[in-house]
Amino acid sequence: MITINCSPEVDISRVHEALSDIRKDAMSGWVDLPCRVNMEELSRIKSAADKIIDESEVLVCIGIGGSYLGHRAIIEALRPASNIEIVYAGNSLSRRELDRAIAQVGDRDFSINIISKSGTTLEPAIAFETFKKLLFEKYGASEAAKRIYATTDAAHGALHDEAVKNGYTRFIVPDNIGGRYSVLTPVGLLPLAVAGVDIDALLAGAAEEATSFSDAMKHDPRTSAAVNYAYMRYTLGNKGYDTEVFASFEPATAYFNEWLKQLFGESEGKGQQGVLPTSVIYSTDLHSLGQFMQDGRRNLWETIIDYPTDDLNAKVVAAVKKAHPLGGIPVLVLGVPSYDERGFGQLVYFFEIACALSARLYGVNPFDQPGVEAYKTELKKLLA
Ligand code: PA5
Repeated sequence: MITINCSPEVDISRVHEALSDIRKDAMSGWVDLPCRVNMEELSRIKSAADKIIDESEVLVCIGIGGSYLGHRAIIEALRPASNIEIVYAGNSLSRRELDRAIAQVGDRDFSINIISKSGTTLEPAIAFETFKKLLFEKYGASEAAKRIYATTDAAHGALHDEAVKNGYTRFIVPDNIGGRYSVLTPVGLLPLAVAGVDIDALLAGAAEEATSFSDAMKHDPRTSAAVNYAYMRYTLGNKGYDTEVFASFEPATAYFNEWLKQLFGESEGKGQQGVLPTSVIYSTDLHSLGQFMQDGRRNLWETIIDYPTDDLNAKVVAAVKKAHPLGGIPVLVLGVPSYDERGFGQLVYFFEIACALSARLYGVNPFDQPGVEAYKTELKKLLA
């Protein structure tokens, strides 16, 4: 289980109220997901992954935001041994990046996993058109269609319609789960399985964390690390600490920090509220932002994600845990029991539930993203 180094004064009834609001929300499908795994879907995912690995040297994974960050975070962190390379595309509108992705695939055999809940997001749509053309040129229409895996809405959207019409293999993003809470659905599970991540162990880790959270809520919420963390964020935010710095000592977790920034930024940052999430990788950043952390403006706190690490690196962790509080910043420490699928499964669920609770304590809806939609609308107008 994830642990935390603090036990704030938790208002138990407010936490129950926050959880009840989360559960009543139409977008709360992720809350019990790890404990109710759809075994039939899981086996379809594993079969599709085996087929992709058999037929291809590269999987082009196309998606942005919640349709991208979670699985990339875990793949980069675990770097599993695999015969297939994942090439990411559609996570920006940079032509350079798209050209780089095309060059990375080269003339190797490839398949495409296009992931878009709405099926209308511009960045992935453009990358999909580009790679689809290459796929059709290389394999012909009928073979190309067999190499496209579309993860999208069950019934709506341009991608859904195209996938049905052309017979692509389809996976569903559940209606009741939004992008940034979707890594444990086919959104994340298919690319993770292709990359060689043990998705059973990942889901088992998430289920352990979910069970521990719900047991604590039944008996004493103050024994839950997720509750204590959410409450601490809320307390610090109200004291004027408006920035949270996620600190990790493992460079391979840089993308996990990116997922955290999206999870908290999109869930909390609305109605002129929210704590700004940012991140550092130590010891690298101790030689740049470390100065600010120790001695700069005191409007921030640090949340150390304490992954098990080697002896020398562990000394750096110990030094930071001592030095930064002396500089007058609150330091929260989240203990991660293992650096593997199980540990990342625990972390994913821990942060999802803590984020939703924290947003609810702040009085904001953790599941919408009006700001993201505003950008999408303006860009479409400009391109019309
Ligand atoms: O968390 C979210 O909802 C967003 O980040 C979306 O995942 C992102 O905008 C991509 O949307 P879509 O999956 O509809 O293409």
